[in-house]
Amino acid sequence: MHTPVIATSDADARIMVLRDFDEPAWTLRFHTDARSPKTAVIGDGGPVGVLFYDRVEKVQIRCRGTGRIEQGTALADRAWSTSDNFARRCYLGAPPGETREEPSSGLPDWIEGQRPTEEQLAPARSNLAVLIVEIEEADWYYLSNGGHRRALIDRDGGRWITP
Ligand SMILES: Cc1cc2nc3c(=O)[nH]c(=O)nc-3n(C[C@H](O)[C@H](O)[C@H](O)COP(=O)(O)O)c2cc1C
Repeated sequence: MHTPVIATSDADARIMVLRDFDEPAWTLRFHTDARSPKTAVIGDGGPVGVLFYDRVEKVQIRCRGTGRIEQGTALADRAWSTSDNFARRCYLGAPPGETREEPSSGLPDWIEGQRPTEEQLAPARSNLAVLIVEIEEADWYYLSNGGHRRALIDRDGGRWITP
């Protein structure tokens, strides 16, 4: 369940890599490009759905929560300093969604296939944004021939509901 689907209020959805789950706070952390369209949609308090699925375990978890984008904060600084230079390299490129004549990574030619240095990465730093999703409720569903199971869980506990 490392790559959930993140849904936003504009009826769009996309895969993102889960970086952290803070259990006491019930928050999820993701990294993204501050120039990507989803950051404007989420802003500082937009509704966010997070859909997890484990095909083998036949478990789906639908989380509803509130998102917030952090850029240039201590949290974003920490996200930058704990990423390796290959991960940071993505933020050196053109903003997501620009039209190109040919298939393109969006990265400048001089960095294609290379690990950038700290100095070369400096201009990319402000393009990294952190998405924090505070989960309000999780809807857990287990698919089974012997009878499906479903539960609604929040920070105060949970209850079984019919599938
Ligand atoms: C396996 C996989 C992992 C991805 N991980 C991320 C991620 O961690 N952060 C991110 O912003 N985009 C990630 N993407 C790209 C997004 O799905 C999406 O296409 C991109 O962020 C642009 O989204 P937007 O136009 O809705 O802003 C990933 C895509 C794939 C296929």
